Amino acid sequence: MARIVTGSDTTTLDSLLEKVHRDTGYDFREYKRGTVTRRLERRLHATGAKTYPDYMRFLDTHPEEYQRLANDLTIKVSGFFRGPYSFQQVARLVLPELTLFKRNRGERELRFWSAGCARGEEPYSIAILLAQFLGNRRQDFDISIYATDISRQALQEAQMGAYSSKDVEGLTPTVLENYFTRYDKDYVVKADIRQMVSFSYFDLTSTIRPPFVNLDCVFCCNVLIYLQSQLQERVLSMLYDSLAAPGYLILGEVETLTNSLNEKLDCLDAKAKIYKKNRRRR
Ligand SMILES: C[S@@+](CC[C@H](N)C(=O)[O-])C[C@H]1O[C@@H](n2cnc3c(N)ncnc32)[C@H](O)[C@@H]1O
Repeated sequence: MARIVTGSDTTTLDSLLEKVHRDTGYDFREYKRGTVTRRLERRLHATGAKTYPDYMRFLDTHPEEYQRLANDLTIKVSGFFRGPYSFQQVARLVLPELTLFKRNRGERELRFWSAGCARGEEPYSIAILLAQFLGNRRQDFDISIYATDISRQALQEAQMGAYSSKDVEGLTPTVLENYFTRYDKDYVVKADIRQMVSFSYFDLTSTIRPPFVNLDCVFCCNVLIYLQSQLQERVLSMLYDSLAAPGYLILGEVETLTNSLNEKLDCLDAKAKIYKKNRRRR
């Protein structure tokens, strides 16, 4: 049962999150407090700590707990083609326009970023979508899909590209046959799809400078929802800077742009949360 957080709890929660940031670099200080406190309750329960100061003392004597805490504070629910309407609209509105633009300019590079990629379902879905859309024109393009997350455990699993039958239950038999190989109980993403995706650690809150630039398309879905508005603003502005012009930003279906970004991006589909950067603006 959830505890009621009192004023003094809020102060010690601030101290706890400061400590986590200082000791590990993980910065949950501007995550939404409801999620953080709910998730922290679990760690308190698991470690036998009754209060936040108890838990801070536990962290001092059990530094391995930091990793468990970080793991519990990040929500890694995902799925292949999560938000199917958005993927459908990316195929309908973004890919034809983008590939035509590239062809007209004689450019081969297609650069995508899945920011907050969890266990890889999203970047592999992007790779499959591109494979389906391009068909035998795939060799006309050099495709890079950068996939980043703060959870090293999720990244390790993503790199293996192996999923249970439950993980792939929403996929059609044709997609399973064309893009996965069955090994015993696992469905493993085929090599030609995996080759398009490269995974690396990146903390979206860590800097205002984007780790990648000149991107054609950035997916940042179901990550901002956990952040407080000021941090959302900072992350969105970094994502904006990472985009080429034209470049496309896709958010989760329940997420919205902050006001300042609303002015800079054109909305291509309000339901699918697809936005377009049209030209370089200051
Ligand atoms: C709910 S999942 C969303 C996964 C996928 N984008 C989707 O829509 O299905 C949120 C992901 O964001 C990651 N995440 C949370 N905070 C992050 C941060 N500061 N930097 C990078 N990734 C973060 C979590 O580890 C988790 O994998």
